[in-house]
Amino acid sequence: MIRRILLAALLVMAAGERHSGYQDASPQVRAMQDDDASNPGFLWIQQGETLWNERAGSNSCADCHGAATTAMRGVAARYPLFDARLGRPITLAQRIEQCRVERQGAAQVLAESDEALALTAYVGLQSRGLPLSVTTGGPTRQFYAAGKALFEKRLGQLNLACAQCHDDRAGERLGGAVIPQGHPNGYPEYRLEWQSIGSLERRIRNCMQGVRAEPFAADSLELVELELYLAARANGLAVETPAVRP
Ligand code: HEC
Ligand code: HEC
Repeated sequence: MIRRILLAALLVMAAGERHSGYQDASPQVRAMQDDDASNPGFLWIQQGETLWNERAGSNSCADCHGAATTAMRGVAARYPLFDARLGRPITLAQRIEQCRVERQGAAQVLAESDEALALTAYVGLQSRGLPLSVTTGGPTRQFYAAGKALFEKRLGQLNLACAQCHDDRAGERLGGAVIPQGHPNGYPEYRLEWQSIGSLERRIRNCMQGVRAEPFAADSLELVELELYLAARANGLAVETPAVRP
């Protein structure tokens, strides 16, 4: 009995330790995210909905999947996900592109193009409010371990690891910004700094440039491993796509 109460208390504490970047944002930024009508990310959501229903190649996403609101509910919360055929985990954006090209027979779109961001955000929205629940066991284990090692590795001329800012110094100020815990639960998200919606890859690139490191290539396995670790580290946090951040 006591053990069970202790365990419950520990779980509450553990959940309390991790919090979304939403909580580090200013009241103005949070208000933008709270109201879909004032969240600029919804411009891309609208485009994503149009693309979902549009025939490209032989058919539309909707022709095969039906309504995104039911078919895509909970999907984004599970990515990056292990792809048995490729023998590696892939991101949600890569999964959508795979479906577009191989199943829909549509032309490839550039990663991080408005179209790709719009579709990823639209699929992501269908998991809003659901807890991230990424799998790290089985065949995914080695990729998760590699991502964790990357998160803890010192990088760039400033010789700083992601973990040194986002684990050790989260909540402290750096220049004008509060260092958030660095969770991926809002992506693609609208950043005021970008004046646009952007991907998690773009955010990671910005942080790597910040420590004067050469960013990982857009299609590299390292980037997916790092994203897998970030997602697993944030497991339990609610999906906020499309979030708003400073
Ligand atoms: C020709 C039919 C077809 C079309 C067109 C199609 N898909 Fe798919 N899609 C599938 C099938 C089949 C699967 C695999 C289902 C599974 O793995 O259980 C799938 C899987 C997915 C998944 C992964 C779901 C999961 O649970 O991990 C996503 C995301 C997805 N599709 C998005 C899209 C989007 C976005 C489009 C339009 C750009 C699209 N699909 C077009 C047939 C299609
Ligand atoms: C020198 C400190 C520092 C390092 C090192 C650093 N970051 Fe960041 N990171 C920040 C700051 C500061 C922000 C917030 C910027 C803002 O809000 O304007 C941020 C934001 C983020 C976010 C966005 C969180 C959200 O709520 O949208 C993610 C994800 C992230 N970092 C991941 C990483 C990863 C992965 C690495 C390692 C490759 C890394 N960061 C390295 C300082 C750092």
